[in-house]
Amino acid sequence: MSAPWFEDEIAGALAQRLPGVGVEVVAEIDSTSSELMRRARDGSRVPVLLVAERQTAGRGRLGRAWQSAQDARQPASLTFSLGLPLAPRDWSGLSLAVGVSVAESLDPSSSAGLGLKWPNDLWVGDRKLGGILIETALLQPDAAERYLVIGIGINIGPREATGLSTEPAWLQQWRPHATPGEVLREIAVPLVENVQLFDERGFVPFAPRFAARDVLRGRDVRLSDGTEGRCEGVGWGGELLVQTAAGMKTITSAEVSVRPAPST
Ligand code: BTN
Repeated sequence: MSAPWFEDEIAGALAQRLPGVGVEVVAEIDSTSSELMRRARDGSRVPVLLVAERQTAGRGRLGRAWQSAQDARQPASLTFSLGLPLAPRDWSGLSLAVGVSVAESLDPSSSAGLGLKWPNDLWVGDRKLGGILIETALLQPDAAERYLVIGIGINIGPREATGLSTEPAWLQQWRPHATPGEVLREIAVPLVENVQLFDERGFVPFAPRFAARDVLRGRDVRLSDGTEGRCEGVGWGGELLVQTAAGMKTITSAEVSVRPAPST
């Protein structure tokens, strides 16, 4: 492995909150999220944090591919998935809560302007620093508990804009010496704490924290279903509120994507 990943330190810190958790780092895999979903479907319930230095088939939302930043000498992206069993009363807003957690860990005072683009992109200005993919696997038919897989990809070093629909940002633009391992060490424990807070209390405690970093609020937006309107922020369940000519539209579907409308 080329980079220090602080596996033992992270495992020790996580074990207090997530007994039995394993922290695994692999040089290459198709996708850390695909791997944890495979394990869940094979019956695994153990909490795992799986990091890959390289993914050959990284996945994003809406069936899109996720490509890491390329650097032949060292990993230039942080790509990992956290898998754990969870049974919240309501799953709505989980991806937003995860975004809040990561953004607050990386930019606690908001001095770098790290914002959140509904539902779960990390943006700096109008450029994408990272993305979050939430998936769950049923553990037993009709059971409330599911195996949750949270996949997170963050650009650490420079990455090219080629093939991307949104210009990229990368962490070293404001933290020149940041490494993927250090970033993982910063975000892992708060991530587990915030997922556990979500498990207990749902999205409500995260709503004002999301609002503080919401990059779409107050802007004209265009949805992938053709709707246009003014974004009024997110509701208490994490739904996107868009004021359209036909009235307020509430978007909960993860199948809908939203973009700031081009300025005229
Ligand atoms: C998105 O922006 O649409 C979400 C991107 C999520 C990427 C991460 S990288 C680690 C994990 N493994 C994957 O295949 N995807 C997620």
